[in-house]
Amino acid sequence: MGLFRVCSNPAAIDADSWRISARSAGSGSGSGSGVAVGKATESRNLVDVKEEFTRQSSVFEVEWDKRSHMSTDDLMGRIMVNLEQHLGHNRRGKHSLKALDVACGTGIFTRSLASSSYCASVTGLDATPSMLLKARAEQNEEEDGVMSACELNYVEGDAASLPFENDSFDLVTCRLAVHHFQDPEQQLSEIARVCKPGGIVCVVDITSSETAVVADNMNRLERLRDPSHTTALSPTHLARLVETFQLNILCSHEGCEAAAISKGRGSNTEGVNTNPEERRNTVKIQTISGHTKHLPVIFNGMYVEQWLESTNTPTAVRNEIRDILRKECEVEGESGTNMTGMHDALSGFYPFFDTDKETLCFSHRYCVVTAMKR
Ligand SMILES: C[S@@+](CC[C@H](N)C(=O)[O-])C[C@H]1O[C@@H](n2cnc3c(N)ncnc32)[C@H](O)[C@@H]1O
Repeated sequence: MGLFRVCSNPAAIDADSWRISARSAGSGSGSGSGVAVGKATESRNLVDVKEEFTRQSSVFEVEWDKRSHMSTDDLMGRIMVNLEQHLGHNRRGKHSLKALDVACGTGIFTRSLASSSYCASVTGLDATPSMLLKARAEQNEEEDGVMSACELNYVEGDAASLPFENDSFDLVTCRLAVHHFQDPEQQLSEIARVCKPGGIVCVVDITSSETAVVADNMNRLERLRDPSHTTALSPTHLARLVETFQLNILCSHEGCEAAAISKGRGSNTEGVNTNPEERRNTVKIQTISGHTKHLPVIFNGMYVEQWLESTNTPTAVRNEIRDILRKECEVEGESGTNMTGMHDALSGFYPFFDTDKETLCFSHRYCVVTAMKR
């Protein structure tokens, strides 16, 4: 098809490109130090997160649609298809599950759960009050029809210390937030703690390469763009971390993800996804216990300029990031649909030019890790 240019020659990238003037690029945003806020002390990381998402809250959902090839609805559709295959056996009838959406933001996943037929109640928890304000405003607008069959609440709180009893929820979800946690072990242990035995945990996040150097490069660039980014884990690391907390990783059922066809940009008139990257839709990992599991991975193209704009990234930093991605594309030339080099691409961003051959884009890979509590 020749729509995409993919970089496959990491050696051709100048190593100096990575000596970027730091915008906290080297170490991640969260140091161990705390910042006094009123009487309580918040971690540096949580301060960064709240600052970033207070700024983003009013445009969070709108900006997504500007910078992403895949619409929110499309992405959520794919996530729900993968999650629902694991809810069937757990189902006591319609609207029976008690669910918690951790770091819910403006409530995208929370609303998807509430409007599915699975949940009797859904609680969304987030640390950033202005994200919750948006979520509640959205709730007021949608408070009719199928949503009314499910009770929906929003709570302010820190995922590192969830304000719920042990074994409280049948389903605990967390989307696109692990890469903002300083110590994801802490948040994931909390997620597992509040999930009932036999309950389901579903963690969705941006993932990095399994190759450490590539993952490091990707995370450094992400932190340059947004200081509240800590670390996007590799699919194996993310799954194993989840597994650590009495959670058995569940496989993607064959064919399920493939059925969740794209209806957004990058799809043909039948809605079939024409982006070859997005058709590589599962990743094989080895669990700690030595089992092979296939996890759904959703590839999504992002427009570099809009992605940089949404975080208000300083001009000099934008220039550096853009130059690195552009250079990485240019060294490869026209590689069409040949994906063989993707996993060694130095930046870990898999940059490409869109169909017009001028708009710089890259691919995010969202991994859906679903697990059952023992
Ligand atoms: C990229 S947004 C994702 C929001 C939502 N989950 C979604 O999928 O649209 C990340 C969210 O994580 C929240 N967050 C990050 N760290 C948190 C923490 N320790 N406790 C609670 N919320 C947190 C932020 O406030 C922000 O709303």
